[in-house]
Amino acid sequence: VPVVAVVVAAGSGSRLGAAVPKSLVPLGGVPLVRRAVDALVAGGAQAIVVTVPAERAADVEDALNGVAAPVRCVPGGATRQESVRIGLSELGAADDAIVLVHDAARALIPPDVVSAVAAAVLTSGEAVVPVLPVVDSIREVGEQSSRVVDRGRLRSVQTPQGARMWQLRAAHDRIAADGVEVTDDAAACEYVGIPVTLVAGHRDAMKITEPVDLILAEALLAHRTA
Ligand code: CTP
Ligand code: MG
Repeated sequence: VPVVAVVVAAGSGSRLGAAVPKSLVPLGGVPLVRRAVDALVAGGAQAIVVTVPAERAADVEDALNGVAAPVRCVPGGATRQESVRIGLSELGAADDAIVLVHDAARALIPPDVVSAVAAAVLTSGEAVVPVLPVVDSIREVGEQSSRVVDRGRLRSVQTPQGARMWQLRAAHDRIAADGVEVTDDAAACEYVGIPVTLVAGHRDAMKITEPVDLILAEALLAHRTA
């Protein structure tokens, strides 16, 4: 079964506040989008569509020069959800292909997690999400009061998220038609009744969102190559 991927990299990175779009920000000298795409290829992705900021398309294409699998860049949409939908429509893959959707901002995704997600799509027939336990104590806040939430029942969600191509296309078409907003691709699948299987995520798959995350990612990278 072919494994293909959409890497969403079209965001501006307003919270990171760098001089360039987040996907072009260097981590250990290599742009985030390049690290993410290389990791997906290492984890088994055979063809990749990358959604890019329209005004920086040429720079992203440069950054992806020489990737060991076919890569195509397309301008993204106004939201992540729109970017995913555009990316899916640009993937010429068969309906039964396994498709992975990944945030370029999760640049240090271990290839083992990528291949584990793809394998779980194959064995479960469901949408697949990598997750981590929640380490903080959590309180739910109401109008007048707050209460503790049992964090043992909570998981934080990462990418790549996977499904069969027909499942993800159907999900994104339906949520677009219904004008619904979802936070991620597994939630899109759930919206059309596709169950979700969880697999183990990894600390390194953290999303680089704020400046402190880039500092942490540089440290994780240094530790990895040490
Ligand atoms: N993304 C995208 N198209 C959008 C918005 C986001 O492809 N219209 C991508 C981003 O490039 C990123 C991923 O979705 O790889 C996760 O989004 P996020 O971390 O929120 O990135 P940004 O939207 O760029 O950052 P911010 O919200 O701080 O502006
Ligand atoms: Mg965003």
